[in-house]
Amino acid sequence: MGRYHFVLFLAVMFLVALITDGAMPATTVEGSEQWGYVQVRPKAHMFWWFYKSPQRTEDPNKPWPIILWLQGGPGSSGVGLGNFQEIGPLDTYLKPRNSTWLQKADLLFVDNPVGTGYSFVEDDSLFAKTDEEAAADLITLLISVFNSNEVLQKSPLYVVAESYGGKWAVLVGLSALKAIEAGNLKLKLGGIVLGDTWLSPEDFVFSWAPLLKDVSRLDNKGVEKSNSLTQKIKQQLENGEYEAATYSWNDLEDVIDTYSNSVDFYNFLLDSALDPLDATAVELSQKVKLKRNSRYLASLRSLSGKAGDDLNTLMNVVLREKLKIIPKDVQWGGQAGSVFVALVEEFMKPRINEVDELLAKGVNVTIYSGQLDLICSTKGTEAWVEKLKWEGMQTFLSMDRTPLYCGGEKGTKGFTKSYKNLHFYWILNAGHYVPLDQPCVSLNMLDSILH
Ligand SMILES: *[C@@H]1O[C@H](CO)[C@@H](O)[C@H](O)[C@H]1NC(C)=O
Ligand SMILES: *[C@@H]1O[C@H](CO)[C@@H](O)[C@H](O)[C@H]1NC(C)=O
Repeated sequence: MGRYHFVLFLAVMFLVALITDGAMPATTVEGSEQWGYVQVRPKAHMFWWFYKSPQRTEDPNKPWPIILWLQGGPGSSGVGLGNFQEIGPLDTYLKPRNSTWLQKADLLFVDNPVGTGYSFVEDDSLFAKTDEEAAADLITLLISVFNSNEVLQKSPLYVVAESYGGKWAVLVGLSALKAIEAGNLKLKLGGIVLGDTWLSPEDFVFSWAPLLKDVSRLDNKGVEKSNSLTQKIKQQLENGEYEAATYSWNDLEDVIDTYSNSVDFYNFLLDSALDPLDATAVELSQKVKLKRNSRYLASLRSLSGKAGDDLNTLMNVVLREKLKIIPKDVQWGGQAGSVFVALVEEFMKPRINEVDELLAKGVNVTIYSGQLDLICSTKGTEAWVEKLKWEGMQTFLSMDRTPLYCGGEKGTKGFTKSYKNLHFYWILNAGHYVPLDQPCVSLNMLDSILH
C-alpha cells in the first residue's frame, strides 16, 4: 500500500467510524424505522433496528408497548431471523407479513452478542465470554437508544426471547431494573417473555430420549445410549465442568441424530433436512461441531450459502444498500461461529434462579412453549418451571388450564394459565419457532401479554 493510499485508507476508516458510531442513527424518510450501531465497548459494535408500529397510539393511560426481540444461537441474528423469518413487517421476499407483531407493538431487533449478524468486533478478544457480559452490552445499547428518546421512555419494554436468548433476557431484566433504580437507564420494564428458551440445559437434555421414545422416534437402544450421555452431562454440571458438558451435549445430539435417523431438533415430527428454517437457523444446532472448530465454521458458511441463500443474499446484498452504514468488510453472520465458541463455558449453565428473582420482584414473566419443539421441549420447560422456588408455585401448579382457540376455527390451539405474575402458554402444533408455526394464536397471546 503506497503512502497516499494509506492516508486515504485512514481517512475512510475514520469516516466509517464516524458513521457507524455517530450519535445520529440512520432513519427512513417517514421516520417509521431507525437503525444504527452502538459501540458497547471500545471496538465492539452492536447493530440495532427499530420499527415504529403504524398502529401506535399516544394515550398516556395506555402507553404503547415496545418489544425487544432476543434471538438465540449464540450467534443467531435477530435482525435477520426474528425480523424477516418470524415476526417483522416483511418476510425474506420483502412481502408484507400479515401476522407481524408490529401490529401490537413497536419492535426493536438487535444483533446480540457482538459478532452476531451485522454486529462486529475489531479484535477477537472482544467477543462476550459470559452471559453477564452479553447482558451488560445490551444494557449499554438500551441506555444509548432510550435515554435520548422521551417517546420510547414512556413505552413499557417487553423483552421477548427465543431459544438461547432466554438466558440473556432474564439477566437483562434484572440488570435493567438495577440500572433504572440507579438512574442510569430511562425506561419502563413491561415484562419478560420466554419462548422456547434454553433456560435449563440439563432439563432439556433429560427430556429428549423419553419424549422421542414415546413418539416412536427412538428405540430402547437409542434411549440407553442417550441415558449414558445425559448421566455424564449431569455429573459434569455438578462438577462445574461446563465446557466438557457442552461437548457431551454435542455428542448426545449426534447419538439422537443417528438413532432417530435425523429427527429435526426444532420440530420432532420432521426430519432435519425438511425443516424450512433449519438451514439458516444456526440455533443450538446439531450441526455445531465444536470439537472441530474449523469444520463448524465451514458448516456455517455452507449453511448460509445453500438453502439459506434467501436470507443471506437479503442481508448481505439487498439490505446493505438500504441500511448504508454496514462497513464494507463486515459480512452479516461473518463472526457468528466465534460468538458461539466464545460462550462454550456458558452454554450449559442454567438461569432458573434469575427467573425466581424476577418473579420475587413482581415482574411479569410469561413462558410459552411449542408442543413439537425438541431442543427446548415443553417437557423440559415444565421440568425447570417446577424447580422454581417462588412463593406462588404451589398454587400455580395446582390450577386448571384455559383452552385457547383462534380466528373462528374449530379445534384447540393451546392452553394457558396465570397466577399473579407468572403466565404459561402451551401452543399446540408449533415447533421451536412458535410465531412462525402458529401466527394466529401467537398474536392473541401477545395481545394478552401486552395490553
Ligand atoms: C394471513 O394470510 C393468510 C393467507 O394468506 C390467511 O390464511 C390468514 O388468515 C391471514 N392472517 C391474518 C391474521 O390476517
Ligand atoms: C402484569 O400484567 C398484568 C396483566 O396481565 C397487569 O395487570 C400488571 O399490572 C402487570 N404487572 C406489572 C408489575 O407490570
